[in-house]
Formats: sequence, structure tokens, C-alpha cells
Amino acid sequence: MIKDFVIGDKIEQPCIVRLQKIGTSSNGKAFARGLLEDNTGCLPFICFETGLVNKLRDMEVPKPFVIGGNVDVNKFASDMSLQIILQKLENIGAHDDITHLMPSGNIDLLEYQKKLDSLIMDIKEPGLAKLVKNILSGETYEQFLINPAGMRLHHAYVGGLMHHTVCVANIALALAHTIEGVDRDLVLAGALLHDVGKLTEISPELGFPYTTEGRLLGHISIMGMLVKEEGSKIPELTAEKLQSILHIILSHHGEQDKGSPIPCATKESFVVHYADEIDAIMNQFSDFKKKDSWEYNKMLQRYLYNKA
Ligand SMILES: [Fe+2]
Ligand SMILES: [Fe+2]
Repeated sequence: MIKDFVIGDKIEQPCIVRLQKIGTSSNGKAFARGLLEDNTGCLPFICFETGLVNKLRDMEVPKPFVIGGNVDVNKFASDMSLQIILQKLENIGAHDDITHLMPSGNIDLLEYQKKLDSLIMDIKEPGLAKLVKNILSGETYEQFLINPAGMRLHHAYVGGLMHHTVCVANIALALAHTIEGVDRDLVLAGALLHDVGKLTEISPELGFPYTTEGRLLGHISIMGMLVKEEGSKIPELTAEKLQSILHIILSHHGEQDKGSPIPCATKESFVVHYADEIDAIMNQFSDFKKKDSWEYNKMLQRYLYNKA
């Protein structure tokens, strides 16, 4: 397993291979660079074998392979971290066990499903209650229970989207309860729906690849369109409420340069945005391998300290 690899190991196991770059080295030979992942961790790889580079060349989404190679120091990293020199890349066979390739968070999925259900039932305003129930039903609900919330940056594990959504809703409710003049039902509905577009944006398959629709439209626009469509079918949902919930969805990344088409302009949208942000940040600490240590965090672009 990746977390146990040490310098000098000769390894062979199924991994998810994520291609990052095909390039040409100074001697004119092609090389491939990327990441190898299993549910214990992730390490960069480099590959100079022409046959394997050609096999990797057409890869558009992360794929599982049985990989083999040597564990070495990554000469390009300043912190003496490891990399794999890839020497073998074979398709997964019927007898290869790939159950360890799906990352699982440290959460009780059933417990979070119960929390999600009671949050959905807790919306009192009839129009908003119906909107959330109609969207989070059937196949969408089933997929919502297993999808990750991100491909790599946060909650990138089975059930990650549900985990993230329940936490955002609870943080947002606590804020709505504390701050005067905040519509708590609007906040709750907005928190529950804010990332549902990720079901279309990110595929639940191995490696959690982005879909073409996701790459072209993004989860914020996808969800904006869905809420507008579903909301217009609900007579109890006033035009004003529909506009307010749409604003929360569209502004939940806070600013235009962070991917929102419109920045937050209402109390409720700020509440959902900051609840979303704080939960994504707190989730970074669950990735620490050891207590009382510093680790570089890619999402926040800084070292984080995990206190003992
Ligand atoms: Fe989002
Ligand atoms: Fe989110």
C-alpha cells in the first residue's frame, strides 16, 4: 500500500494512475509524469519507458492499472519526498483486487444519511421544503449518498459530498441561529443544495474523474439551472424565495474570481459561503498521517500544523 512505501522498495500493486504531463527530456526521449493513488495515499510517478509513455499518452481520465516500479527520492521536490519510477503498467485483470482503490473517509455513512434525512425534514417553509425534497429524491438522492465532494482537494472519498453537505448545513444553521435577521430555512435549503451540481460534475467512478458536462458547465451553473427548473414547478415557492435560493447557489464560492458568477450580496448567502469554506478547510486536517506534525497543504498552499 502506498503509505508503506520506502526508498528502495520494488513495488507491484493495482493503483489509480492520474496522468499530469507528457514531455520530452533533455536527451530527446519522451517521459510521462503523474500521480499514483490507492486509499492509503498518493505518490508522484515518472516514467521513461517509451512503450508505457505511449500507453499513457491517450489517457483522458484517471484509470486503474497494475503498476510496478522502484521507490526513489523525488529529485525535483525540496523536501526529499518519494516518487515511483514506473516500469510496469498492465491492465487490471479479473483476479486483481481493486477494492482498496476507492478512498473511504473516516465516517459512518449510515449515521450521516440519518443526519441528512433529518436536516431535509427540518425545513419548515413549504416551498423550500418541497424544492429540496424534490431535488434530493430518487436516483439523485442515491447518488448523493456515495459521491465525493471533490476530485482531490476536499472530501475526496465515497460519501464525501453527503459528509460535506451535512457539516455545511450544521455550521450554517449555527451561524443563522447566532446572527440576527437571518432566514434559517433559506440558509438550510441553500446549504443542502449548494453542491448538488457536483453529482453531474464529478463521476463516482474510480479516480473520481470530471465529466465533460462538468468541465464545460461547472457545478454552480449546473445547479443554478436545475434549481430554476425545479423551482418554477412548485406553486408554493414564491418568485422572491426562488430568487433568494438561486442567489445562494450562484454565490456560494463567495467571489467571482473563485468561480461564482455573482458575489455574495445577502446575509443568507454569506452564511452559506463561509460555512462551506470553513468545512472545506477543517476537512484538510483529516488527511494528516501523524499527530503533532506539519504537512504542506495543496488546497490552502501553506503548511498546516496538526496538534497532538
Ligand atoms: Fe461548490
Ligand atoms: Fe461545498
